[in-house]
Amino acid sequence: MNCRNCKKKLKKFMTFGKMPIANAFVKNLKQREYFFELAPSYCPKCSLFQLIKQPNPKKLFHKNYAFFAGTSLKMQNHFKNLATKLITNFKLKKDDLTVEIGNNDGGVVHYLSKRNFRNLGVDPSANVAKSAKRKGVNIFNNFFNFQTAKLIKKKYGPVKVFVAQNTLAHIPNIDSVFKGVETILSKNGIMVTEDPYLPEMLRKCSYDQIYDEHVFIFSLTAIKNICEKHGLQVFDIEKLDTAGGSLRYFICRNGSRKIKQKVLSQFKIEKKLNLLNPKTYKKFKDSCEKSKKSLLNILRKLKKDNKTIVGYGATSKSTTIFNYCGINSNLIDYITDTTPTKIDKFTPGTHIPVKSHEHFKKNYPDYALLLAWNHKNEIFKKEKYRYSTRGNWIIHLPKLRIIKK
Ligand code: TMP
Repeated sequence: MNCRNCKKKLKKFMTFGKMPIANAFVKNLKQREYFFELAPSYCPKCSLFQLIKQPNPKKLFHKNYAFFAGTSLKMQNHFKNLATKLITNFKLKKDDLTVEIGNNDGGVVHYLSKRNFRNLGVDPSANVAKSAKRKGVNIFNNFFNFQTAKLIKKKYGPVKVFVAQNTLAHIPNIDSVFKGVETILSKNGIMVTEDPYLPEMLRKCSYDQIYDEHVFIFSLTAIKNICEKHGLQVFDIEKLDTAGGSLRYFICRNGSRKIKQKVLSQFKIEKKLNLLNPKTYKKFKDSCEKSKKSLLNILRKLKKDNKTIVGYGATSKSTTIFNYCGINSNLIDYITDTTPTKIDKFTPGTHIPVKSHEHFKKNYPDYALLLAWNHKNEIFKKEKYRYSTRGNWIIHLPKLRIIKK
């Protein structure tokens, strides 16, 4: 397998073993599941961290896509804030076109549409796209690439702002996306994109960020190398605590804006992190194995003591944890989640039942394993009264800890 950006040969440095599709919640246990080998790699030339193999995107994004961003209040505020920032900091006018790819059931364009700004959401999953349409967003239900970019430009003209929130990491043909951006962006247009940040994943050992949809975990260095091929440059960045620790990149055509000092400093920081050194990834691999051992030890011990354990949040990330660690319904009684399309199904590969939040309220466990750890504050706030009177939380990263009631 070659690097999806610079074509250099890739080597896998570890494997998480056979994995099902992270969001393919199982309705009927007799149903056959698709498995592939989940193995990450990093490019020794351009430093892009990526999966060796990704299942066909059509298996991942379709009319029954299970993830609805609307389930998180924090993410809704996050999208709304970016919409406001685009209007105020970048002086967006009502007839400037904003295109957002992977806008799911609304996204940033939803908040722009509410304020009557020209917008277009491009998402390949029909069910979430329909939901965005109902909210008033203009929708193009398709994958974004060089071909669709040309169609969009022909129909709507140049794009002032191109947004991708937790989306670029999902698209294997990164070259085609950036070629599309290069085609579609107006002279002074900007691209604003954010994704989980590689140095944060390495620091926290949040290996559960690695699953089929996340074909890339980006660093600033990798994004710069991709941009360079397409006459683009990163002129600003912002560190974010969303999606488990992300970096937001502001990108423009070469020379059209001044590069902020912040960007230059972050390059220096990344250099010190040795993102091209095999030792960095050997250390990560060892930390993953250690994390797996400690999680299994605590779950087995609690089960031996007849404790009830429930998973909180049937996240895509938890598919990696459960399948890599071999955790099934012998250790976890059920998972609670608020997403209607996941409820009363079973987790991919490991077949733990998924139950509603109402069920959870009637069946509080002794321990809840926080799988949606990136939504910790929102969840803890929500569960504060009812829950802290009875249960304890298990958080598996950066180091396994138990928060007692
Ligand atoms: P994410 O980590 O990919 O954002 O997925 C979060 C999952 O957690 C999603 O399935 C919805 C679920 N969830 C809850 O069940 N309750 C909550 O309060 C929050 C914030 C998320």
